[in-house]
Amino acid sequence: MSQSQTATLKLKTIPTSSEIEQIIRKSATLSIGNDGNKETTPYGPDPEGLDILPEYSRQRLIASGIDISKGYPERPDQSQIPIFKDEVFQIRDDVYPYVERGKNADPEKKALFGAATEVINLTERVGTEIVGLQLEDLTDQQKDELALLIAERVVVFFRDQKLSHQAQYKLGEYYGRVEKHAQTIQVPGLPGATVIWLDYRKKNGMPLTFHNANWGNWDVLRYGAAGNQVWHTDLVHEKQPAGYTHLHLDTIPDVGGDTIWSSGYGAYDKLSDELKKFLDGKQAIFTSAHRYLDRENPLNGPSPIERTHPLVRTHPATGWKSLYVNRGMTKRIIGLNPVESDLILNYLFDVYEKNADIQVRFQWKTKPGYGTSAIWDNRISQHRNVFDHEGTKERHGTRVTALAEIPFFDPKSVSQREALGLSVE
Ligand SMILES: [Fe+2]
Repeated sequence: MSQSQTATLKLKTIPTSSEIEQIIRKSATLSIGNDGNKETTPYGPDPEGLDILPEYSRQRLIASGIDISKGYPERPDQSQIPIFKDEVFQIRDDVYPYVERGKNADPEKKALFGAATEVINLTERVGTEIVGLQLEDLTDQQKDELALLIAERVVVFFRDQKLSHQAQYKLGEYYGRVEKHAQTIQVPGLPGATVIWLDYRKKNGMPLTFHNANWGNWDVLRYGAAGNQVWHTDLVHEKQPAGYTHLHLDTIPDVGGDTIWSSGYGAYDKLSDELKKFLDGKQAIFTSAHRYLDRENPLNGPSPIERTHPLVRTHPATGWKSLYVNRGMTKRIIGLNPVESDLILNYLFDVYEKNADIQVRFQWKTKPGYGTSAIWDNRISQHRNVFDHEGTKERHGTRVTALAEIPFFDPKSVSQREALGLSVE
């Protein structure tokens, strides 16, 4: 055999990218494009999900007119799940003209606060609960004021809500382009209404226990993210990452299953002036939660896609600076060597995670037959779930995420405490 015949033979043994794609799409176990559990295989409404669907979640779906006769939740179409990174970048590659609804809102929020029966600040600077209003009934003026309130307070809560899935979607659409995820489980017929349901993911093989639930908070790369128990910010790999994000829980444990948010404004203000100066204007590489193949090098195996964003970003409504990092998905500070980058990033993750005075922990409880909403701004925060009910109590909800602007850093912007005239000493 000549040398050129050997070369041809060897080349033939390397599958083409379309052959690789076919192998992966037909496989029930190769986990390209999903996070390793079986929720995306096969696709369509899941009849078995109905077996564990909580009663009030079922009632809410029926009241919304959602067809669950064939099953619930809707698993995304496997044929539409990207295999290669270039396909992911094509999904939302256009520049969406984002309108910041909080920007021109009344700073006193008279329409929103005037209609509420009570406005309760849950901590000094993070988290506010509005009482006596139904999200379905808000006027545009109130929605704008709510956006500004979220931009200032990081997260705003509404208990005792009767909220249809469509109304939740429409509110998200008012705040920005609704993110439709190619991999996650959804409300049937309403892509963009993502189902948040750990019991379902556990049923389909996600390994999450009392024992391992928090390991990722030591090292997410080594120990995994285990069902959102790791501090994170949603969808940072997008060109225009998540802004106002609305989780409505319609089935809530009587005790347990809280969520904790931490403020990016507060995290930034915890830093020394010298470190602030050093970080201002720096950029970092952010990664996706899901993993894909490089078309040029498919046999290298799957890895997350990467996107570059500012490490300190300015919020367009408040004009305040926020530290934009998270343990789950910020990989590297551009310009530093890997050792320097790891040391500084790990410190910044700790600042977010360990300072209880920039955080709020929220217990979702509500009246029987109602749901509770949390709307937060992913541009200026991190959050995590608390799995203390260990799956012994039902918890179910739907999330609608509005994507925001391309992240920017304005060198003239100020920190929250500077803007409010608060000393750090
Ligand atoms: Fe999240």
